[in-house]
Amino acid sequence: MKRISQLLMIFVLSGSFLSGQNSGAPGVPVFNKRLPGTLMVGNKPFIMLAAEVNNSSSSSLAYMEPVWDKLVTMNCNTALVPVSWELLEPEEGRFDFALVEGLIRKAREHDLKLVFLWFGSWKNSLSTYVPEWVKKDTRRFPRAQEKPGVNMELLSPFGEESLKADAKAFSELMRKIRELDEKERTVIMVQVENEVGIHHTRDYSRQANKLYESAVPQELMTYLKKHKDRLTPELEKVWSLSEYKQSGIWAEVFPEDAPEIFMAWAYAKYINQVIEAGKREYPLPMYVNAWIVQNNTSKKTLKAGGYPQGGPVAGMTDIWRAGAPLIDLYAPDIYLSHYREICAEYNRPDNPLFIPENNNDKRSAAHAVYALSKHGAIGYGPFGIDQVPDRMPLGQAYQVLNNLMPYLVRYRGTGNMTGILLNRGETDETAFMGYRVKARSLESENPASIPANAMLIALSEDEFLITGANIRLDFYPAAKASNEVVATAWLEEGEFEDGQWIPGRRLNGDERLVILRNSYKILRLKLYQYPYYQKN
Ligand code: DGJ
Repeated sequence: MKRISQLLMIFVLSGSFLSGQNSGAPGVPVFNKRLPGTLMVGNKPFIMLAAEVNNSSSSSLAYMEPVWDKLVTMNCNTALVPVSWELLEPEEGRFDFALVEGLIRKAREHDLKLVFLWFGSWKNSLSTYVPEWVKKDTRRFPRAQEKPGVNMELLSPFGEESLKADAKAFSELMRKIRELDEKERTVIMVQVENEVGIHHTRDYSRQANKLYESAVPQELMTYLKKHKDRLTPELEKVWSLSEYKQSGIWAEVFPEDAPEIFMAWAYAKYINQVIEAGKREYPLPMYVNAWIVQNNTSKKTLKAGGYPQGGPVAGMTDIWRAGAPLIDLYAPDIYLSHYREICAEYNRPDNPLFIPENNNDKRSAAHAVYALSKHGAIGYGPFGIDQVPDRMPLGQAYQVLNNLMPYLVRYRGTGNMTGILLNRGETDETAFMGYRVKARSLESENPASIPANAMLIALSEDEFLITGANIRLDFYPAAKASNEVVATAWLEEGEFEDGQWIPGRRLNGDERLVILRNSYKILRLKLYQYPYYQKN
């Protein structure tokens, strides 16, 4: 009996029980969709303080040498690193794993986890990473066509041989990773393809045209009917235009945006099969990243424009979920200024936030702090870490976040942690743990000035850990009419060592306000309240 309950406990802790996945050996990375949406590595929740290398960097182990050091200097715990089909399978059926082995070995030497990015059939709505033998054989591996008969530099998602070949190569990769890494768990997650979609209304190849003029597959209709009251507003709207038609060709069922929906379904089905082949060998968590809608507003639209059609943008979520149930996570690549809104859009009960690509300048520090605190992100990574100067604020922010890691893990997704991100000159008021926290941006016009940001972690009702930059925080009673005054019992700088708080300066007098300047440190704040009016 004791043995059974022990086994059950291991199962529950590993997340396998909850996610229903066959995760192989105990402790192998698994995506636990409850808890809330936690990446478990070695049976423990793991948060990725990551960075992505440039597209070509990991094609050369020699080139990568200084890049590993850069990742360590930046205090990353995870590297996002491409593995391309062309170098994995240079001749059909001949696989070369030297790079994969080298990357895993080097990551271990630098105490880094890896997320491999599978550059297979597609990398940013192009097929430049497919092997030469695929590129040259346009009959066997048909191209998407921008009009009938006109090939693009893009594999068609309707090419059955392309799918078979990609899935085969991907399954070989996953088999190898399992063989090399199942015990050590250096590789913790895999991105399948990269920012897929087509820079055109849709694929006009013969096969695509035939399917576009055929009935919407029953499988998709069944999913939509079943989820009718939970669809995204975008899809709900286009389907409502046909009065929720239950069958018909694409343009009848979806009077608007049928080409995009058609392409989304095609990509989702294809990628699901690639993932299925890979997970059969080694079921690591797998995600797709999105080239998101590029209109500079949080208002989404399904209209074409500025982003490849058919990719996993937020408005296509239902189509992707229906076609690709094996995808664990949808991740936005964010290069737009309405960062807060995009984070909110992708942080959903069924989809924790992970940002695999973001600007690699001073904003990345602020964006990391915000995503991890406000949205309990499971990871964050700026793009192109190879190029950034060593003294980028991100390194300092990651150092502080590493120091706070036990609290990030404990409080992500709970009311005990929140975050603030402000534009220059902005102010904000946030309700947190029974207080109103007024925030003011101190970002200056100096090009090195980091956007105002803060992370607040409540250790108790009146004691907080705070980090951030270029921000001032003032605490008030939750109720505006309160007779209580919130004041500082004490404020100190410090950091954790082996779980123990080691205080630095006790801040009082001139330094008594919660003001964080253009660098990262940890403040510990204890508040108390006293009555404003009091009869003597
Ligand atoms: C987004 C892509 O996903 C990356 O691979 C890279 O090409 C960046 N854009 C460059 O900004």
